[in-house]
Amino acid sequence: MSVKKPKTQITKSIKISILYDNRAFRKDMSKDWGFSCLIQGLSKTILFDTGASGKILLGNMEKLGLSPRQVDAVLISHEHKDHTHGLEALLDENSNIEVWLPDFFSQAYKDSICAKGAELVSVNKVQNICEGAYTTGNIAGWIKEQSLVLHTPNGLVLITGCAHPRLVKVIDHVLALFDSQIYLVMGGFHLAGFEKEEIQTIIMRCRQAGVQRVGPAHCSGEQAHTLFRNAYGSDYLNIGVGQEIIIPSKES
Ligand SMILES: [Fe+2]
Ligand SMILES: [Fe+2]
Repeated sequence: MSVKKPKTQITKSIKISILYDNRAFRKDMSKDWGFSCLIQGLSKTILFDTGASGKILLGNMEKLGLSPRQVDAVLISHEHKDHTHGLEALLDENSNIEVWLPDFFSQAYKDSICAKGAELVSVNKVQNICEGAYTTGNIAGWIKEQSLVLHTPNGLVLITGCAHPRLVKVIDHVLALFDSQIYLVMGGFHLAGFEKEEIQTIIMRCRQAGVQRVGPAHCSGEQAHTLFRNAYGSDYLNIGVGQEIIIPSKES
């Protein structure tokens, strides 16, 4: 499937709620190692990753006034427990959900989803989830991963789980698929333990690729937060659990 000129584009503003992260944006939210966020405003409400604990995931949803019943589709980026393990508790509350899963996931995890009565959607290549929302398909790397792309009038919003294939490779993969600039890249950048110079090179590559805004989260590492904040200034999003990010319908 080619999406160089996607037929479907998001025209309304969308809200991205951070449900799971190891940094907290609000004191009343539970922080824990892992990542999950909820995208509202499309014809399907999409949960991207599910964190490590269903109890924490559902507890944080409740604190934000969100219900598992609102979720229509779940994307899981890769099979690490800090992204996969919250799903079971969610499906216990609502099994009327499409679970978009890379085809390389273990049979045991696939079986656990089907056993709950949820619909399994096997992912390999780029695919349209609903208007303006796409899975990137499987991105090759030492650990393969899928990312989520929202095609908004401001440009692409790219959400990564851990970016194990490497952030620059994920960005290049997306730019090869879509004829549009990246408005925001957010999620796990997996840069903890990287040298300062390596991170600065990655930031330079993000700039060269035209990435307008950045929101490192989860496994990005504190040094990456500092360096991205210094480089991007007001276009750096300080992401933590409990945060609600509004992507406007038009650049204001
Ligand atoms: Fe992770
Ligand atoms: Fe991971």
